[in-house]
Amino acid sequence: MANKQKALVCSGLQGTYSVELIDVPEPGPGQVLVELQAIGLNPMDWLMRDIGIFVPKWPAVFGYDGAGIIKKVGEGVTSIKAGDKVMHAGTLQEPRVSTFMQYVVMKAEFVAKVPSNISLDQASTIPLVLATAVLGMYDSKRAPHGGIGLTPPWEEGGRNKYAGEPIVINAGSTAVGQYMIQFAKLSGFSPIITTASKHNEEYLKSLGATHVIDRTISLSSLPAALRAITEKPIMYGADAISTAETQNAMYNVVAPGGNLLIDTHNQIGKDKLESGEKFVAQVFGDVQHPPEQACGLALYANITGLLERGEIKPNRIEVIPGGLAGIPGALDRLKSGVSALKLAVRPQETP
Ligand SMILES: NC(=O)c1ccc[n+]([C@@H]2O[C@H](COP(=O)([O-])OP(=O)(O)OC[C@H]3O[C@@H](n4cnc5c(N)ncnc54)[C@H](OP(=O)(O)O)[C@@H]3O)[C@@H](O)[C@H]2O)c1
Repeated sequence: MANKQKALVCSGLQGTYSVELIDVPEPGPGQVLVELQAIGLNPMDWLMRDIGIFVPKWPAVFGYDGAGIIKKVGEGVTSIKAGDKVMHAGTLQEPRVSTFMQYVVMKAEFVAKVPSNISLDQASTIPLVLATAVLGMYDSKRAPHGGIGLTPPWEEGGRNKYAGEPIVINAGSTAVGQYMIQFAKLSGFSPIITTASKHNEEYLKSLGATHVIDRTISLSSLPAALRAITEKPIMYGADAISTAETQNAMYNVVAPGGNLLIDTHNQIGKDKLESGEKFVAQVFGDVQHPPEQACGLALYANITGLLERGEIKPNRIEVIPGGLAGIPGALDRLKSGVSALKLAVRPQETP
């Protein structure tokens, strides 16, 4: 095996990209070396270049999600072997794992086997957005950062536990929102009400949404649109896009005593949060971050089966040509906006 690999390096804040040669790392105890066949792209990747979020030093290699083939396993790894097809999330913890390269070393416990009904291209787009939905919904109830404490469907009594309970998921066609809808279905919520552009209505219903409200209606008319669907108080709400406007609109939708999950920094007024009238949790989608690890490990122990049984389906994807060199253009496209679509590249195709 070659001891050098290609990586996409960003020169600095708002800097330029270049494909450079770096060392192939060796897996240590409890780790595996993955030959990446596909890399899924996330909004975080272009935010890192544009505003430097989560970048400890420059030049930097970004990338969070990946899928590939195990090349080597480190001492003590028995759960997985060379040749297995796997997916994994990167991490912002130390040592950091970035994925805009051809080989990565990962902790074996945060690697999941990819079942035969899922391609590696699809698998590469799953980890971060899936973790964000799952940690937000099922991690323990903690504020400001944490989950809203639902019982996960893989735990005893979790499947269909919330039958007859409405949930409102704003921005259901985001990649995160699509997983929230699917998990809400496994948890038994009904109705599952979401907002999206009209052209995504049938697709989101195929994932489990029972009602799709056209997201072009004004946010102030959302409560009335919801009342036309259910008279029950909304005790569970999730905002999968979490702009300042949508967070506050969703805060108003949730009934007193209810729970709201958001996935970007909290922009709900301090006075409202301090009133304690409603519980608001901001999810952090890093499964290796110590407070999130327990739920993250449970997710990684269960995700292969959920995908294999078709209970959770990956987002729709498009593969961008050019390998690592295709990433800068793909990130520009992501930044200008995609609709219910994840983008992926194949790093082994890098010219
Ligand atoms: N906390 C974390 O750890 C974490 C991790 C990952 C992502 N995030 C955040 O989660 C959010 C979603 O990320 P993603 O990757 O899932 O996004 P994405 O798939 O790239 O989002 C694209 C979708 O957003 C929808 N959309 C855009 N603006 C909207 C608005 N104002 N109201 C409702 N829907 C809107 C569009 O819906 P239509 O096409 O139907 O119009 C489009 O389908 C982002 O804010 C991201 O920063 C947080």
